[in-house]
Amino acid sequence: MSNEFKIRVEVNGTTYERMVEARMLLSDFIRHELGLTGTHVGCEHGVCGTCTILFDGLPTRSCLMFAVQANGHKILTVEGLGTLEELHPLQKAFQEKHALQCGFCTPGFLMTLVPFVANNPHPTDEEIREAIGGNLCRCTGYENIVEAVKLASEMMQPAK
Ligand code: FES
Ligand code: FES
Repeated sequence: MSNEFKIRVEVNGTTYERMVEARMLLSDFIRHELGLTGTHVGCEHGVCGTCTILFDGLPTRSCLMFAVQANGHKILTVEGLGTLEELHPLQKAFQEKHALQCGFCTPGFLMTLVPFVANNPHPTDEEIREAIGGNLCRCTGYENIVEAVKLASEMMQPAK
């Protein structure tokens, strides 16, 4: 008996239909089936946050879900966040404030922070540290990431 299921999922505005094994992780589906390798995989057990995507608008660890659970849902990965010509304010701010070094953790930080900066016009350092508390970075020491989040929040305010 086949252990595959048909799923239909919208990723970065495109609808995909695929047959997937019941045990396939959502992170593996995104990377290996769709080729969207911007979503990184570190620990594969929910600790590092590098696999974070937006699942129906909410930051979600894709290594803790099965692909079949995404059936009928909407996903945004880092590939859908901005373009080279028009970076998302968070991407611009990370670049400007040197908030990354090797970059392995960066997609997870960005996707974690998208709703945070949209909903927090003037976040304090403490609020930012709380927001990124589930994301690990082995390079930066976090200071520049905090500065980048503050800048991105400012950039996202409507012009006065
Ligand atoms: S790879 Fe998903 S939390 Fe680490
Ligand atoms: S920039 Fe290297 S792990 Fe964060």
